[in-house]
Amino acid sequence: MTASPTILVFDSGLGGLTVFREIVAARPDANYVYVADDAFFPYGHHTEEEIVGRVVPLIGALIAEHEPDVTVIACNTASTLVMPHLRANYTVPFVGTVPAIKPACASSRSKRVSVLGTKGTVKREYTRALIRDFGQGCEVTLVGAANLAAIGEAALRGESVSDDAIVAEIAPCFLNGEARTDTVVLACTHYPLLLDRLIRLAPWPVDWIDPAPAIARRTADLLGAHHGSGPAAAPRMLFTSGRPAMPEQILAPFLARRAAA
Ligand code: DGL
Repeated sequence: MTASPTILVFDSGLGGLTVFREIVAARPDANYVYVADDAFFPYGHHTEEEIVGRVVPLIGALIAEHEPDVTVIACNTASTLVMPHLRANYTVPFVGTVPAIKPACASSRSKRVSVLGTKGTVKREYTRALIRDFGQGCEVTLVGAANLAAIGEAALRGESVSDDAIVAEIAPCFLNGEARTDTVVLACTHYPLLLDRLIRLAPWPVDWIDPAPAIARRTADLLGAHHGSGPAAAPRMLFTSGRPAMPEQILAPFLARRAAA
């Protein structure tokens, strides 16, 4: 019997689950290991040197332990820095998650786009290069949110989060002058956890661009025809803090489409 392929999905915390659910839907036959580096969360508050120094050896250890067929870095704050280091050090195929500036600028009608990410992601040279290369004449506003990733985690855990706290983080995305912002790039994997509330609290409707489906397609392409002939194992979820697994009812929505497949 051929073993099912193994996909390692990595994030600083629970935001990568928004990417994980799309990959699971694309490849329900795979084995999954989801790793949250919660001992170092939030990545958005660390320097570039700290993130490279943390993530590169940690991914090396995870590859040695779990032998994935593909590793997905489901974190913009890390991917906009570490992908060249990972590819130089390890031979396993990688998929990164970076701000979806190209499709956002291609589809904006008002040509006014905001990129909502962590303070780290919006500062990166990588992100600025994406705007230079793929801005397509759009005016692009970078918005670094200090607390929105932590707010997303709190909401997922069922803790109460005020509308005001969310509004304070997203308000700078909405520019209303000669042209009005019509597209916001969700450049942090935690933010789709809050999508219903982002839609409700936005001062006017915009397109919220989430790259997760594209990342899932890329991951499935890399695995290609490598299908297992036996049933896949239950996904494993690991926290670098060593804290126990998430309660089943919190994880279930992210696995729903696997169960249905
Ligand atoms: N989920 C991560 C991202 O996509 C980062 C959140 C954080 O750790 O600050 O950017």
